[in-house]
Amino acid sequence: MIKETRVTLKNIGKINPESIDDYIATGGYEGLKKALTMKPFSIIDEILEAGLRGRGGAGFSTGMKKKFTSESCQSCPQRYVVVNADEGEPGTFKDRVIMEQDPHIYLEGTIIAAYSIRATKAYIYLRGEYTDSITRTRKAIADAYERGFLGKNILNSGFDCDVELRLGAGSYLCGEELTMLESLEGKRGNPRIKPPFPAEKGVFGAPTLVNNVETLANVPLIIKNGKEWYRQFGTERSAGTKIFTVSGQVNKPGYYEVEMGITLRQLIDDLCGGMLDGKPFKAALLGGAAGTFVDVSMLDERMTYDNLKEKGATLGSGAVIVMAEEDSIYEVLHSCLRFFKHESCGKCVPCRVGTTLMVKDLERLKNGVSDKEALVQKLVKDSKMIASTSLCPLGQSPILPMESAARYFTDELVS
Ligand SMILES: Cc1cc2nc3c(=O)[nH]c(=O)nc-3n(C[C@H](O)[C@H](O)[C@H](O)COP(=O)(O)O)c2cc1C
Repeated sequence: MIKETRVTLKNIGKINPESIDDYIATGGYEGLKKALTMKPFSIIDEILEAGLRGRGGAGFSTGMKKKFTSESCQSCPQRYVVVNADEGEPGTFKDRVIMEQDPHIYLEGTIIAAYSIRATKAYIYLRGEYTDSITRTRKAIADAYERGFLGKNILNSGFDCDVELRLGAGSYLCGEELTMLESLEGKRGNPRIKPPFPAEKGVFGAPTLVNNVETLANVPLIIKNGKEWYRQFGTERSAGTKIFTVSGQVNKPGYYEVEMGITLRQLIDDLCGGMLDGKPFKAALLGGAAGTFVDVSMLDERMTYDNLKEKGATLGSGAVIVMAEEDSIYEVLHSCLRFFKHESCGKCVPCRVGTTLMVKDLERLKNGVSDKEALVQKLVKDSKMIASTSLCPLGQSPILPMESAARYFTDELVS
C-alpha cells in the first residue's frame, strides 16, 4: 500500500500560510541562509546532482537550465528569474495548492535561484483568476522584505534581490515560457521563435531562468538537506517527488504528493480510494489536454518522465483525469481539441486553421461520415502536420491526445 510522501507539501494544513513566523518555525528560510554561505556555482551543482527536473511539464534538468543561464552572456548587466505561476493546463492545480497554502516555500526557492544565477530581480507571473494565490503571494513577498529575506543586502550577505508580482489574464499560451516573456514585457501573448532559449535571450533580452512553482518549491529543501537526502526519493533518472492532481471517476479526487515512479494503479487504488462506486477503469488522460490517453494496459507502468515517454505517454504537469467504462473518449478528445482551437493565438496558420479543422473533422465522426476509420487516420496525420509546421509548442500539443486516443480507442471512435 503506497502512501503519500510530502516533501514540497510538508507544511500544508500545518501552518498558517499568511504567517512568516509559522514558516520559519518549520525550518523555513534555512535553505536561503545556507545558500548565501555557498558559492553560486556550488548551488547549481547541488541542484544538478540532486537530479531535480522541471515540474512545469517538460521535465528538463533544473540544474542544467541554471547552468546555461548563469554561463550565458557574461557581459550582460542583468539576468532574471521568472516564476511560471500561470498554471493553465486543464486538470492541473498543484501550483495553486503551494501558492495558497505555503507561499514562502516557492518564494524562498525563487530567491535561492536568483542568487545561484546572480540575478537581482525575479518576476512571478501568476494567473489572474487565482485570487487566493495572489493575496498570499503578495503578503509573503511583503513579509519577506520586512524580515530582510528580500531587498538590499539580504541577511548581510551583500546580495540584493527584488521580486515583483505580475498577473496573467488567463491565456493558456501565456504559460509557455517565451510567450510569457512577451506578456511580461507588456506585449500581446504571442510566441517567439525558439532558439534563442530564455537562458540566452529572455525577458528584456537578458538571460532568464524560467521555472515552475513546484520546481522552485523543491529548491530550498535540496539546499537545506542536501542532494543525497533528495535522491532517496523517486528513481535514478526521475528523482524526488511529484504532485499529481487527480480528477474524474475516483472516490477521492484531489492532490497527492508521491515519490516518482508510482504506478497509475497505486495512485487510483491506494491513494484515491479506488474507482468511484467500483466502476471498471477505462482510461486516464495523463498530463492534461496536452497529454496522452492511456488504457488499462498502462495501469502498472511506473510514472516517471522516461518510462512514460518510452511507452508513448507523458507525465506532463501531473494532471490525471480518470475515466470509467461509461465515459466517452470522443467527448474528452473533443473537449481537448476545442480547447486548443480556442487557445490558439492565431499568429501562425497551421495552428490557427489546423486546430479549427481538426475540431470540424472530429465532429464529422458523429455526423454520418462513411469511412470513419480513414477519418481517424486523417486526424492523426493532420495533427502530425500541425505539430511539424507550427510556430510554437501549442501547435505541437493536439497530436498527443489525438494520436493516443487513436492508438487505444479507434474502435470506440469509429463505432
Ligand atoms: C502551451 C503551453 C503552456 C504551458 N503552461 C505552463 C504553465 O501553466 N505552467 C508551467 O510551469 N509551465 C507551463 N508550460 C511549460 C513552460 O513553457 C516551461 O517549460 C516551464 O515553465 C519551465 O519550468 P520548469 O523547468 O521548472 O518545468 C507550458 C508550455 C506550453 C507549450
